[in-house]
Amino acid sequence: MPADAPTADRDQYFKSQNWEAYDSEQHDIWKTLFRRQAEILKGRAAPEYIAGLDALQVTADGIPDFRRMNDILGRATGWEIVGVTGLVPHDMFFELLADRKFPATSFIRTREQLDYLQEPDMFHDIFGHVPLLSNPVFADYMQAYGKGGVKAMQLGGLENISRLYWYTVEFGLIKTADGLRIYGAGIVSSKGESVYSLEDASPNRIGFDLKRIMRTDFRIDDYQETYFVIDSYEQLFEETRPDFTPVYAELKGQPLIQPRDVLPTDRVFHRGTNAYHAAKRAQQATAPGQAAE
Ligand code: PHE
Ligand code: CO
Repeated sequence: MPADAPTADRDQYFKSQNWEAYDSEQHDIWKTLFRRQAEILKGRAAPEYIAGLDALQVTADGIPDFRRMNDILGRATGWEIVGVTGLVPHDMFFELLADRKFPATSFIRTREQLDYLQEPDMFHDIFGHVPLLSNPVFADYMQAYGKGGVKAMQLGGLENISRLYWYTVEFGLIKTADGLRIYGAGIVSSKGESVYSLEDASPNRIGFDLKRIMRTDFRIDDYQETYFVIDSYEQLFEETRPDFTPVYAELKGQPLIQPRDVLPTDRVFHRGTNAYHAAKRAQQATAPGQAAE
């Protein structure tokens, strides 16, 4: 089956939350994650994100009920959370977003996975992504992204648009009068990266630049080496409003930019030392020898 063929059986990906079925251990894991993250995010998360958490009544009381969140979210921006089993295919993902539906998993990580897990669970999806969907401008951006994704698949721009999602929706920073703040879901749901992304000397922090981002490779196995900073959600929405057809064509022959590269054209907020990843690389280089001792 060609990669771009539409997903045949969509029903198999949907799974309603069944809120009554969570046991006390699962609610406790949520409470632990919530309390810890709420503390870390004070003065670090974007004010619109915090406002969203409050508005949607996402709290330390336990795993939220999607039905109750949807009542509030629907009235705020018309978005709806739909339960899914895990990652869904690109075409389905884009079409859901274009319809103002956000696919969210309903399983929660185990206690052993508190600090890190590779696939998204409901703490990432609900705590990370949903709060900003209550913000009108961000809500419109997400829908525009979904429509743009459908189009990108027809134009060979899937990788380009996926990088945009990665460096904004998942790992974006925003400039405020009080300094940089986090709005990306991949950061707000991560204890370590919430601090690292803002305060560590290692990563680059660079001003939002659409085409530059669309050419920048990213890592999925560790903290990012570069974060991109928007001035406002309005900027994000406006700069992604033009037709991307010529953009994809222009980017086609151009080389990838490595995750840690800084270009002369970059608006640099912070030039990273890359110390964090350099240390990891050194460790990996010596690890086989050590293992043989
Ligand atoms: N303007 C984009 C296009 O024409 C659509 C888009 C909007 C993509 C917002 C991403 C984010 O393809
Ligand atoms: Co995510």
